[in-house]
Amino acid sequence: MFSIFSKKAKQATMPYTTDLHSHILPGIDDGSQNVETSLKLVDQMQQWGITKIVTTPHVTEETFENTQETIEAAYNELKTHLSNDAPEIIFSAEYRMDENFMKHLKNNTLIPLPNNYLLIENSFVQPFWDLKNLIFELQLKGFKPILAHPERYTYYYEQKRIYTDLIHLGCLFQINWLSIAGYYGKDTKAIAHWMIDNGYVDFMGTDLHNMHHAEAITEYLNSKDYQKVIRKLNLKNELL
Ligand SMILES: [Fe+2]
Repeated sequence: MFSIFSKKAKQATMPYTTDLHSHILPGIDDGSQNVETSLKLVDQMQQWGITKIVTTPHVTEETFENTQETIEAAYNELKTHLSNDAPEIIFSAEYRMDENFMKHLKNNTLIPLPNNYLLIENSFVQPFWDLKNLIFELQLKGFKPILAHPERYTYYYEQKRIYTDLIHLGCLFQINWLSIAGYYGKDTKAIAHWMIDNGYVDFMGTDLHNMHHAEAITEYLNSKDYQKVIRKLNLKNELL
């Protein structure tokens, strides 16, 4: 017999199966602090339909100076606890553009995403002093730079021209679901929607740090706005 009560609400899923931005490795940045939390976050990502996670711990001068060694150690620790049907997990990094980054670039010690994509971020206080030239230099070295959450840099809000300039230089943009969901405030949400409407969004990412983020993203995936937004997106996530 038909009953509306017997049907379990279907979990809304992401419009992609590969996520390229998260902080789920235990104990090496401001994301997951232990294996138990990491496993919860991985499980949540799996419920969103993600089958491949390219996780990206922070590499930031003075605060999180992670290296291949520190990231690999945390990755191996998590791996031993993962179940057989867990999503595939590989690691890269989210590089703050600073002197530490320039050192890695010079020494050839950067850990890119698959196909030589590279996730870079500005500080939230001020942009990297020579961003356009750095993007050019990265491209010359064969990297495909992806600017992480360009919608979160408030100092660009009054000079949106910079976004167009960066797009013309071939810099790719990765927007956070949390931004569109309004998690960081209405100004960030408005810029994120502006980028979507202008076709500036190459990748969407979770930037998942903790279960608060997970809950906010799940709530957004079940919203009407989400259904409207995914119709406008033309994502490159599956290229990774
Ligand atoms: Fe991040």
